[in-house]
Amino acid sequence: MKAPRLCILSRGPQLYSTRRLVDEADAAGMIVEIVDPLETSLVLDDKQGQVIHQGWPLDVDAVIPRIGYSVTTEGVRVVRQFERMGVYVANGADAIMRSRDKLTASQILSQKGIAVPKTALVTSWRDVERGISRVGGVPCIVKTSQGTQGDGVYLVRSIRHAKELVYRLLAERNTVLVQEYIKESHGKDIRVIVVGGKVVAAMRRVSNGREFRSNYHLGGRVETIDLPDEYAKVAIDAAAHLGIEVGGVDLLEGRMGPILLEVNSSPGLEGIEKASGVNVAGHIIEMITKRHKIQSINLEEVVRRRSGFGTVRVLLNVWPQYIGRSISEVIPPESFVVTIVRGKENIWSPDRNLLLQPNDQIVLYGPIESIRAHIEGKDDASAAMS
Ligand SMILES: Nc1ncnc2c1ncn2[C@@H]1O[C@H](COP(=O)(O)OP(=O)(O)O)[C@@H](O)[C@H]1O
Ligand SMILES: [Mg+2]
Repeated sequence: MKAPRLCILSRGPQLYSTRRLVDEADAAGMIVEIVDPLETSLVLDDKQGQVIHQGWPLDVDAVIPRIGYSVTTEGVRVVRQFERMGVYVANGADAIMRSRDKLTASQILSQKGIAVPKTALVTSWRDVERGISRVGGVPCIVKTSQGTQGDGVYLVRSIRHAKELVYRLLAERNTVLVQEYIKESHGKDIRVIVVGGKVVAAMRRVSNGREFRSNYHLGGRVETIDLPDEYAKVAIDAAAHLGIEVGGVDLLEGRMGPILLEVNSSPGLEGIEKASGVNVAGHIIEMITKRHKIQSINLEEVVRRRSGFGTVRVLLNVWPQYIGRSISEVIPPESFVVTIVRGKENIWSPDRNLLLQPNDQIVLYGPIESIRAHIEGKDDASAAMS
């Protein structure tokens, strides 16, 4: 079999993490190339397109994006192009974007039942006082939604200080969050590395001196830990909900258990490999070796292949006349039922005789406009009958 070709998208070939991934990929018999995402050009054409590097189209089987925060936009569009070309990427463009914005990630994860610090988005210094009272008063945390390595994260002890700070951060065009301060976790947090849905390593980070931020880059130290199951589960779930296959999940140690802070899509490997003694880079390469052959995909792209086709959702609390009917009575021509969402369950490609229940959601695939017309038409018909 041909050796798999791996592209590491990174601006720092000399960085510890990049070097470790190259070494492990070499050891696994892959052909590796480090590509600076800013030195690529993208070609969109009537086929799948190309990523050009130093004059040649890249022909690879898998990509590891190691995209720094300052080049998110440029890096993510290269990742997206590789996805279009059917190349396996760990992580995908959408997953990187979801995790990179702290507010977006918290919205998704809290909706899935994962504990996050109480957070308020503030868009004017006038909102600050209200925001602070919503998250439990001072002291509280003020942070920018897109910061990293502890930059743009502040502990404030007075409302006046918070107002000044928010005013300045907004003037610098940041998205600003006011957040509950988890004081029992002052100066420490837990970093869990999740690879392919499994925890491969974990460590506790402890800050330097009186600093409340535990980031490694601010001179914090790292400790080994035995990760409790509860923490492992939250880390795995958080990565899965964001679609992250390789991630560093940061958890605070709250009184009631783990509180999710953020998920990093290009986690640094140096601190964690040294603290845990685990060959994290090796785990990442091993997962890629397996997964590039069977990739997860974005269903949306498959669904939109045929013009005018797509998925729609029919909520039975909006269309109660369908309750108690069978799927075969309801389903529009040329379409089919992908799933029925019933409470916490999904019933995939359900039997045509299945009876619909209150609060069911029917997810239909087919010609969107005629599905809409069919359902609206049925509404009139059943109104006329009753
Ligand atoms: N709500 C909070 N309560 C307590 N400590 C926090 C809170 N938010 C952040 N911290 C501390 O500050 C550090 C950096 O915050 P984080 O949101 O992870 O930003 P960054 O993306 O810059 O790392 C965390 O690792 C943690 O130690
Ligand atoms: Mg962090």
